[in-house]
Amino acid sequence: MADLRVGFIGTGDPRAKRSVMGYAMAYRQAPGYVDLADKCKIVACADLVRERAEIFSETFDVPGVYTDYHEMLEKENLDMVSICTWMHLHEQMTVDCAEAGVRAVHCEKPMATTWAGCKRMAKVCADKGVQLTFNHMRRFGKPFREAKALLDAGEIGQLRTLQYGEANLYDGGTHHLDMFGFFNDQTPVEWAMAQIDYRTESLVFGSHNENVAYAVWKYQNGVYGQCLTGRAGRELIGAYDKLVGTEGAIEVGPFLPKGEERVMLRIMRKGSTKWENVDCGPEGLHGHNDDAKEPVLYHRRAVACAVQCLEEGTEPEIGAKNALQSTEITFACWESARRRGIVEFPLDIEDNPLDAMVASGDLKPAKRE
Ligand SMILES: NC(=O)c1ccc[n+]([C@@H]2O[C@H](COP(=O)([O-])OP(=O)(O)OC[C@H]3O[C@@H](n4cnc5c(N)ncnc54)[C@H](O)[C@@H]3O)[C@@H](O)[C@H]2O)c1
Repeated sequence: MADLRVGFIGTGDPRAKRSVMGYAMAYRQAPGYVDLADKCKIVACADLVRERAEIFSETFDVPGVYTDYHEMLEKENLDMVSICTWMHLHEQMTVDCAEAGVRAVHCEKPMATTWAGCKRMAKVCADKGVQLTFNHMRRFGKPFREAKALLDAGEIGQLRTLQYGEANLYDGGTHHLDMFGFFNDQTPVEWAMAQIDYRTESLVFGSHNENVAYAVWKYQNGVYGQCLTGRAGRELIGAYDKLVGTEGAIEVGPFLPKGEERVMLRIMRKGSTKWENVDCGPEGLHGHNDDAKEPVLYHRRAVACAVQCLEEGTEPEIGAKNALQSTEITFACWESARRRGIVEFPLDIEDNPLDAMVASGDLKPAKRE
C-alpha cells in the first residue's frame, strides 16, 4: 500500500524540444516515484498551463490536476513534493511546501537565485523538520561512484586538486561542485578567488550564467578546486571532472578527439604513465544518455534516495546541507569577481553578485540575436 502522497509543482511540456527554456524535468523525476509504487503515489500535479498538467496527469495516472499550486497544497494533504520549475521559483515554492506541512521537498537544482534565498529555504525546512533534497543526481552514476572508489582505494595517491572544464559556475556548475563535495568527503571550503567574462547574455532557465569563469578555491583539508568554464575549459582541463592526486589522475568524461571511442571514466594509476579506461557499462554522465539501457536512471535513483532517507530519518547525501556547501562556492566565485579579490568563507553576502553586476551596469552582456 502506498503511504506517501506525492505532488509535483511544474510539469513542463513533454512535447517541447528540451532546451535551456525547459527540460520538463518532472518527466525525469516521476518514474522514480512510479518505481516505488508500493510506497508512493503521485496524487496531484500543478502547472500554470492546465494542458501541461493534464498531459502529466494522463501520463502518470495522477488524479489531482491544478493550475494553482497553493490550492494543491491546501487540498491534497501531500507528504512529499517534487519542484520542477525554474530556479528563481525554488525558494518560495519550497517555503510554501514546508509551511503547508509536507514532510519532504525534492527540488530541481540549483538551489535558489540568491545566497540568502538558498539559506532561507534550507533554514525554513530545517526548522520545520522537512527533508529538503536537490536533484544532484550525478552522485548516483557509475562513472562518479567508481571514480570515488578508485580515489578512496589510493589508486592516485593523495587527492590534491579537483578540476572541471565545462558549463558555468551555476546551472551546470552546481553538478560539478556537488560532485567535488562528494569526492572530497564534504570538506568545507576556506576561500575562493575568481574572474569572470560576461559579454554575451546567457540565460539558462531564466537566470544569468557567466560566459567564462576562471576560479580556484581551497578546501579545509588542503585540496584545491579549480575550474575554467565555457568552451576553453574543454581544452585546459580536458574532462568533465578531473581528480588529480599525488601519484596519478582520474578523469570522469574525458573530452577526447572526435571519432575516438567514447569513454566515461579513465585513470592513470600510480606507477603508470598510461590512461586506462574503466568500464561503466551503459551508464553515462547524466543518467539519460541515448545509449543507456534505462533512461533517466540517475534521476530515479535520486528520488529513491530521497524517499528512503525520509522513511529512515537519515541525512540524504543530496540534502540541503551538502547543497549549501557547493552552492556557496558558486556565489563566492561571483562575489570574488565583484570584489576583485579573495573571498573568505563563510560567505557574508545575501544577493546574487552576477545579477547585481548586470543590474548595476558593471557587466553589460549583449542580448543574443
Ligand atoms: N537535474 C538536471 O540534470 C537538470 C537538467 C535540466 C534542467 N534542470 C533544472 O530544472 C529546472 C527547470 O525545470 P524544467 O526544465 O523542468 O522547466 P520547464 O520549463 O520544462 O517546466 C517548468 C514548468 O513550471 C511551470 N510553472 C512555472 N511557474 C509555475 C507556478 N507558479 N505554478 C505551477 N507551475 C509553474 C511552467 O508552466 C512549466 O511548465 C531548472 O532549475 C534547471 O536547472 C535540471
